[in-house]
Order: sequence, then structure tokens, then C-alpha cells
Amino acid sequence: MVSAPTLDAVNGRAVIDPASYADWDNLLDRFDSIRSLSPVVRVEGVEDVHRPFWLVTGYDEVMEVSKDNTTYLNNPQTVVFSLNEGIAFAKAMTGGSEHMVASLVTFDAPIHMKYRKLTQEWFMPKNLKTIEDEIRAIAERTVDRMLAAGPDIDFVKQVSGPYPLHVVMQILGVPEEDEPRMLMLTQQMFGGQDEDLNRSGMAAMTPEQITQLVAGAVKDFEAYFAGITAEKRANPTSDVASTIANSVVDGAPLNDRDMMGYYIILAAAGHDTTSASTAGAMMALAHDPDQFARVKADRSLLAGIVEEAIRWTSPVQHFMRTVAEDTQLGGQDLKQGDWLMINYVAANHDPAQFDDPRRFDAARSPNRHLAFGAGAHQCLGLHLARMEMRMLFEVLLDRIESVEPAGEARRSTSTFVGGLKSLPLRITPA
Ligand code: HEM
Repeated sequence: MVSAPTLDAVNGRAVIDPASYADWDNLLDRFDSIRSLSPVVRVEGVEDVHRPFWLVTGYDEVMEVSKDNTTYLNNPQTVVFSLNEGIAFAKAMTGGSEHMVASLVTFDAPIHMKYRKLTQEWFMPKNLKTIEDEIRAIAERTVDRMLAAGPDIDFVKQVSGPYPLHVVMQILGVPEEDEPRMLMLTQQMFGGQDEDLNRSGMAAMTPEQITQLVAGAVKDFEAYFAGITAEKRANPTSDVASTIANSVVDGAPLNDRDMMGYYIILAAAGHDTTSASTAGAMMALAHDPDQFARVKADRSLLAGIVEEAIRWTSPVQHFMRTVAEDTQLGGQDLKQGDWLMINYVAANHDPAQFDDPRRFDAARSPNRHLAFGAGAHQCLGLHLARMEMRMLFEVLLDRIESVEPAGEARRSTSTFVGGLKSLPLRITPA
């Protein structure tokens, strides 16, 4: 029997080290060399920190796994790469499940579709049209604040960070004054791996203190959304929180854990992701004044810029799957129960699919990137994310004459959701 291609210890550790994801060019070099070894490789030998898994870096293979939701499941192992201690922690918190929170990403068929259907219509373009004016108003306010703070700004802190957070909180019915609390709670629950972003100071805590903090955050979040649920049941509105609060599955309202999971996944999935792609688009424009001038004059180019920014940044860097039955992938024999990392950054930079993948090419066509995933779990918020980005750039392009880099851009250290955490720019208003 031929043994599977296996990563050496240096590459194996690097792929799961959050710091590697802050060093983008080296990361892409690493994925290129791993992919040329094999698009599906084994990572093992570091069981002191994590269990062995398969790393999938080829575009075709990531697509195959994503679309085959029978062979590759989101259960029972965790869907986000976790060190042994994180898994033990989740099990202790939940009484045995590796998933801290029950949500769409932790469900498989047939339950998954029942829950996804509850809000799927809400996230379709037809319904999103009804909130266009609200979103445009948030974009206008954000750009007003940016211009008041300028000409030198940190685009992530002033614009791309707060804007999607406002949008997602608006659709969840959270008033603006409660947003900092929600941000803190989601960060505490998901234990940010980046020291600058992890404002809860978790880095300096013992495991017991972290357990208490996370347990407290989950309780606090539950109490907060129990209030929202009661309010939306008494006075339903057209936002997504109302849709969730008044949903029925198999003839019964959602139980508390499932309802909280729904709020939490939307609160968590909707902001850092869109922020990272928005910042990436702005960085690309700041470095290419001709392209900025072209899109300012011709807004039909905007859709291409938005789509390319999402591919180029790939802010959701991976998800995990568990093999349901023995199978083959990329020439490798996978066994039932094996754990797989599908790496979207690597897939979206696969030269077999994308010409010159590291180049930001707003005219790229086709651009069938995998940044939103594919198959049954494909991003529920993809139309919202595109619409938010398009609207913000429409306002920005109206209100600014030019933009240039004004310092070093820095990326966050994170294996899961990552991207720019600082983007210093100089803005010239229109
Ligand atoms: C540029 C922005 C975004 C990116 C790159 C992104 C990416 C992703 C990816 C890769 C997945 C997993 C797909 C899979 O397993 O095949 C996902 C799932 C999901 N996303 Fe997004 N996302 C973004 C914005 C949003 C927004 C704005 C929302 C909603 C407010 C959202 C809500 C969700 C939800 C609920 C899921 C789980 C879907 C399921 O399991 O059925 N996302 N997203």
C-alpha cells in the first residue's frame, strides 16, 4: 500500500498556527508548495495539540467536498479547526458535544434544511431590496464619520469594521447603544486568536477563567436575546430577528438553544467577514489610482471589484468536515471518521482555476471563487454581503476624490476568519 502524502512537521504546525495567516505572501507560497505535493495531504504527528486531519488545498477538491453533503458531514467533529484543549472545553460546556453552539453550520441533513429554510427567503435579493434604504443610510452615516475623522484614517477601525456590524445588528433588532456589548460577547464566546482584536484580555487568563468568561458570555447573550424574542413575538416586525422568533419547526417553536444558535451565527458570521473583504477592496483601490478613477467614472465595474475582493481576501479561511463513509479524494483513500480541513484561501489561489491568482483583477471572468463555500451550507448571507459592499462603495465613490495608502496595513492572526485589522489611508474628499 502506498502511504498518503504527509506534511512535514514545520508545514504541519504552520498550517494550524494563527500567526501564519497574518503573513499572507508566505502563507500563499506555503499553500502552493503543499498543493503541488498533493491537493489532499495528511497532517499528523502533532497529536499533543490537535488530532490528525486531511488538508485540502486544491480548488476542485474543495468544491467536491463542499458539494457532497452526504459523504462529508458537518458532524460530529467540530466544524472549525480546534486544538485538543478547545474541543475538551466545548465538551465540558455542552455536556458532550464538540459544538459550543448549535447552529446552521453544525447541522446536517435533514435538520439543516429545515432550519435554513426558516430564513432563506429573508436573505434573498427580493427581500433584501426592502432594506436597501436602511443599509444605504448606515453607509452614509459611516462615511460621514470617516470624513469628519480624516484626512488620515484607519479604514478598518473607521469604516469596514463598524459598518457591517451596524447592518447585522440592525437586522437582529439590536439598538446601536447595545452594539459594543454584543461585540464583546461574540468575541468572548469565540475567543479571538488575535491579541489586538481580543479586547476581553483572554490571552492572560487561565483555562478555568476562560471557561467562566465564556459561560458567562453565553448566559448574557441568551438573556439579551430572550428579551428580543419576547418583544418580536409580541410585536412582530419585518426584520430577521422577528422571522426567527416566530418560526416553527415540525409544528413547534424553536427551543432556546436552537434559537440562540441562530442569533449567534448571524451575529458572528455577518461582520468580520464582510469587513475583511471591504477592507481588501479598498486596499486594492488605494494601490491602483487608475482603477479607482475608472470605477468612480463607471459604476458598472463595481460588481467585479466586489466579487474579486471577496475571492482575493477569502475571509473565511477554512471549515472542517468529517468523512461519513470510506471514499477517495484527490487520489487519497479517506476513511470513515477522518477529519478534513477545506481551505478556501488555498482553493481561491489555485493556479489551475485562476490565472495569476495573487493579482487583484476586477475584470476576472469567470470568477467562480469558493469564498462563500458551495453546496448545502453555502453562505446564507452572500447576497447581503455583496449588497452591503456595493452600497458602501457607491457612497464612498460619490464622496471621495482619491485615496492613497498612509502606512503599513496589518492582518489579523487567526486560522478561521481573518483579514486586515488595520488599513491606514489618506482620503481626499470630493
Ligand atoms: C464577504 C462576506 C462573507 C463571506 C466570505 C462568508 C463566507 C461563508 C462561508 C465560507 C460559509 C460556509 C460555507 C460552506 O460550508 O460551504 C458561510 C456560511 C454562512 N454564512 Fe457567510 N460569509 C460572509 C458574510 C455573511 C453574512 C453577511 C451573513 C449574514 C448576516 C452570513 C451568514 C452565514 C450563515 C448563516 C452561514 C451558515 C450557512 C449554513 O450552514 O447553511 N455570512 N459563510
